[in-house]
Amino acid sequence: MTNRVRKAIFPVGGMGTRFLPATKAMPKEMLPVVDRPLIQYAVDEARAAGIEQFIFVTGRGKSAIEDHFDRSVELEASLAEKEKFAKLDDIRESLFEPGNIAYVRQQEPLGLGHAVWCARHLVGNEPFAVLLADDLIKAETPCLRQMVDVFETEGGNVIAAMEVPYEQTSRYGIIDSDEADGRVRAVTGLVEKPARGTAPSNLAVIGRYILTPTVFDELERGETGAGGEIQLTDAMARLIGRQPFHGLAFEGRRFDCGDKLGFLEANLAFALGREDLGPGARELLARMGEGSE
Ligand code: UTP
Repeated sequence: MTNRVRKAIFPVGGMGTRFLPATKAMPKEMLPVVDRPLIQYAVDEARAAGIEQFIFVTGRGKSAIEDHFDRSVELEASLAEKEKFAKLDDIRESLFEPGNIAYVRQQEPLGLGHAVWCARHLVGNEPFAVLLADDLIKAETPCLRQMVDVFETEGGNVIAAMEVPYEQTSRYGIIDSDEADGRVRAVTGLVEKPARGTAPSNLAVIGRYILTPTVFDELERGETGAGGEIQLTDAMARLIGRQPFHGLAFEGRRFDCGDKLGFLEANLAFALGREDLGPGARELLARMGEGSE
């Protein structure tokens, strides 16, 4: 079994009900933050971490994602003709080497664990990453890169972790762990969406994982958990004690783009951080703050 993380799964088969009607005919991962769809940020992050093969687990709206990462000969020709070379480069950068992108259909949205399991044959017997594009992470060193660095020294499984307010723990997978010395902790337990007042900590699992293929055997059981869904957290929890699990309190800021306010905040933060848009965005916010709009 290779010890390099070469493959990544991008589950994009969810219903995206919180963003209806925008997500009626397209996956929420195609929603743009400033001018790039969420899925593009996740793919770029994976590339920066050395990922070579990209597996999308799709549901509805598959064609929008396929088209986004495909060549558009007419568009490229038209940009070249108009000498819009920067735009042309930008578009070409998002393309994959032929054969390095694969799509598998999750026929029914039975949960994140089920979506990951749908990619088992494409992953095979090697460690792999999972990235949830609606968790958008702004970081100097991309989050998955930080995780791969931990994986390369520690092995086992690595999950991204972040402290959240205690009153929000029932929305997340929550980690039980040893006392941290630095950013990496040994995970001793995991619970998906604990009922209020029962969370073992306020350390939440964020949508970035490096997992060993053993997790597919656990997912194979098809057991449902919180919300009647097949949960990835439950399958991982059953592996604790049999395999090392590390929680990495990553450096960076995470935006919950599955939530409307989180999505809005991400748009503001990314616009403010851009050279071309930052000054205009700051002015706009100041004007809105004065109540003139
Ligand atoms: P969410 O829990 O955010 O669910 O999924 P959702 O359906 O996408 O959105 P809401 O809550 O209805 O608004 C977390 C991630 O898991 C994927 C989603 O695409 C998202 O990236 N997912 C979830 C699947 O791929 N399949 C599923 O069956 C469920």
